[in-house]
Amino acid sequence: MPEQRKQKGASGYDRTKTCCLLVYGCQMNVSDAERMEGQLRRIGYERIDRMEDADLILINTCCVRETAEDKVYGKIGEIKQLKRRNPELIFGITGCMAQKEGDALIRRAPHIDFVLGTNKVHELTKIIQQMEISREHVVDVMLGETELPDDVPVAHGSGFSAWVPIMYGCNNFCTYCIVPYVRGRERSRLPEDVLSEVEEAVKQGYKEVTLLGQNVNSYGKDHKQADFAELLERVDHVQGIRRVRFMTSHPKDLSDRVIEAMKNGQHLCEHIHLPVQHGSNRILKAMNRVYTVEQYRDLVHRIRENIPQVSLTTDLIVGFPGETDADFEETLDFLREIRFDAAYTFIYSKRSGTPAAKMEQQVEEGLKKERLKALMEVQNAISLEIHEALKDSVAEVMVEGPSKTDPSVYTGRTRTNKIVLFPHTCEMPGDFAHIRITQPQTWVLKGERISE
Ligand code: SAH
Ligand code: SF4
Ligand code: F3S
Repeated sequence: MPEQRKQKGASGYDRTKTCCLLVYGCQMNVSDAERMEGQLRRIGYERIDRMEDADLILINTCCVRETAEDKVYGKIGEIKQLKRRNPELIFGITGCMAQKEGDALIRRAPHIDFVLGTNKVHELTKIIQQMEISREHVVDVMLGETELPDDVPVAHGSGFSAWVPIMYGCNNFCTYCIVPYVRGRERSRLPEDVLSEVEEAVKQGYKEVTLLGQNVNSYGKDHKQADFAELLERVDHVQGIRRVRFMTSHPKDLSDRVIEAMKNGQHLCEHIHLPVQHGSNRILKAMNRVYTVEQYRDLVHRIRENIPQVSLTTDLIVGFPGETDADFEETLDFLREIRFDAAYTFIYSKRSGTPAAKMEQQVEEGLKKERLKALMEVQNAISLEIHEALKDSVAEVMVEGPSKTDPSVYTGRTRTNKIVLFPHTCEMPGDFAHIRITQPQTWVLKGERISE
């Protein structure tokens, strides 16, 4: 019997049960998983890493690209053996693939006990309690228009940095994207609820919060209690907070008031993730992004004028249907012009049910890969140049902990969200240190602690 199983009479459970939560996809999924873990703790489960030792396995899934789904199907396959060895094991699928596939998942893999949709995170307790009595299959994926109740217990991960959802869903329907179909329409949380979650996190010792939404700039358009700029200002004023971040920003909605708030806010970090997706107006139009390259460029100028230290990162897709060599060249030129600090680059993946999946002139896989490689080469060179200019500068870094590959090296982040590696001295995760950058690289900055 694994060590974690101990007597726990008072809670009504005779031992601590163990759960293994595997999380794929974006920060919204990480945040949902924190709300799942919060509920599981309340009913006597302790989170462990090894799925072989777990009484309950949950996979919180992503379906934004086919590769994300393939990973999940691989894991589902592995769990079949575990379930055979231990029929008591409870196995559930949550998240975006659960929403998209529903009972088809159970038809394909009957060892899955339940499938819970994205809008049902708060129902996990009820389902698990049901499963503890009977393993009858349950599929609950109704995508209502309501937001999650605000009293769902949350177990924030790191101890120093908390994800706080401010809105759910997306109304934008970019033609390549599955998210609006699996997350439903935009629903903003009330400002008081966001603020009380931030205040509670700070009270528990968290130093940093990241406000989350698929398009945070349209926060409050539904309830009109506060817009995103006002929310940022209010979170910035929470007593004791050190850093405030947010993601993701759709370029069409990033207002001058948000830029102003960032310029004036003391704790609002100088980083904006501003996905451009493409550098050709023709493709942007086909993607339904609703802005042009010129408008994006203007926005970047306004941001940089007001927040000179800002770091800008972006997302890009190569191989969208109909993308010609000339369109692709426009993306490369745009990268060279804007000079992002970093870019997340994706090969277009056909998602059935989205308009782009039905478009003609799908780009051939080999060509997509070639374009991805070329794109990454251009961006990597730019990232390195930007980082080299930081050599010998001193950055305020929030310490995150030992590096996964070398525990004698610690990692942290600058306000501009750059990862810094430095030799460990006496800092604890969540502490702040001043680091002189000595060896800038493409993805990380290496440095040394300076005495204050
Ligand atoms: N709401 C965020 C992004 C969510 S998805 C936004 O609009 O910025 C994260 C990224 O995945 C997107 O920015 C896009 O670049 C990429 N993506 C989404 N659907 C994709 C698809 N079908 N194929 C490839 N990349 C995709
Ligand atoms: Fe997808 Fe576009 Fe919504 Fe982002 S804004 S989640 S890319 S539909
Ligand atoms: Fe993936 Fe769902 Fe996020 S599809 S990217 S986990 S919203």
